[in-house]
Amino acid sequence: MSDEQCQTCKERKQANPRWREDFPVQWENDNYITRREMVKFLSLGSLLIAGANFIVAAIPHLEKATRYPERQVGLASSLPAGGSTLFNYPTEHDPCILVRDKTGDLVAYSQVCTHLSCAVIHSAKENALFCPCHNGYFTVEEGRPYAGPPTRPLPRIKLEQRGDAIYATGVEV
Ligand code: FES
Repeated sequence: MSDEQCQTCKERKQANPRWREDFPVQWENDNYITRREMVKFLSLGSLLIAGANFIVAAIPHLEKATRYPERQVGLASSLPAGGSTLFNYPTEHDPCILVRDKTGDLVAYSQVCTHLSCAVIHSAKENALFCPCHNGYFTVEEGRPYAGPPTRPLPRIKLEQRGDAIYATGVEV
């Protein structure tokens, strides 16, 4: 009898181990919850992706909405071909450089080097914007780096000429 009981006990234990009694799991409900969780996860994931797409699509419009002040930065008659002058734009803490290139065109850039923020200067002899910190060179025509460590172009200042006066009207990053 006791052997039989033991045999029964063993079979019961195998079919229903002790941990199942301590931690009962209702598999049908468990599957149901998992499915619901999955749908919740997919819905929230889709919403997040849709939101991120909306934000990415809105960024260019927000940038366009940034308004820059219009400020007179120099006189065209005071800048000979190959000459340059300094000014601050859009705030007093943003140094910029205005250059009249050898063809007579006026261009302006942020004076802050895109490598490690030293001030670039105009080199008429080399027809370049030069950063003395690490010998970085930018083209005068486009502000594009072509020698030294800088890899990003200088932010360009939009200019407008009215009569003799030159105005800064915006920044192209
Ligand atoms: S800071 Fe201008 S080249 Fe390094």
